Amino acid sequence: MSTLFSESFLGRPRRELGPGAIWVPDWLGAQEQRWIVERFHEWGRGPVPPRAATIGSAHMSVQTVCLGWHWRPYAYSREAIDVNGNRVLEFPDWMLRLGRKAILETTGDPLLAANYTPDTALVNYYTDDSKMGMHQDRDEHSSQPVVSLSIGDTCHFRFGNTNNRNKPFTDISLASGDLFVFGGPSRLAYHGVTRVLPGTAPAECGLGSGRINITMRVTGLSD
Ligand code: SIN
Ligand code: MN
Repeated sequence: MSTLFSESFLGRPRRELGPGAIWVPDWLGAQEQRWIVERFHEWGRGPVPPRAATIGSAHMSVQTVCLGWHWRPYAYSREAIDVNGNRVLEFPDWMLRLGRKAILETTGDPLLAANYTPDTALVNYYTDDSKMGMHQDRDEHSSQPVVSLSIGDTCHFRFGNTNNRNKPFTDISLASGDLFVFGGPSRLAYHGVTRVLPGTAPAECGLGSGRINITMRVTGLSD
């Protein structure tokens, strides 16, 4: 980066972290972020409350609420059988359209975008101390891309390789409004969140504290 022009002046550049793994900083505007934060509060009121999933005997440090299909380690179902048994909310039409827009943005391919039909979203809420260990998103029966949106506090996000959870990996800072898509040869890359940076959420995003991450996915399941 040139020292003449600062990041705040030029904006953060788009980056390809691997084949099919594209990071688009500041993709959502402040108004869109605030609108999604309002939806996030609605989702939290039910029919299935956010919960910290249990992996083995440990609770994850994020709270998750799902749309379309409910995720539990390591399967999807329409009903949240590990929470209160209620059926999760429908996958919203606006989110389908947003997912298609994200694929168009990152691939430039209108046909790919029009055919992208995510049917589940995992909405994770991170507090100051939340982390997410290196993992693959592999409970889906589809190789379609994952679309990730971040709102609120910045986090350190680690994007690795498809073989194991160790090096080589790339560390980036995902900030409020950032889009990250991973598909193609990167679809099964290990990834995780090493830390949240408290107090970094811009006031205009509408989230007072913490971080929201939404990942849209195609489950490949049918009822
Ligand atoms: C996830 O891996 O499912 C979430 C990633 C993120 O919070 O950015
Ligand atoms: Mn993941």
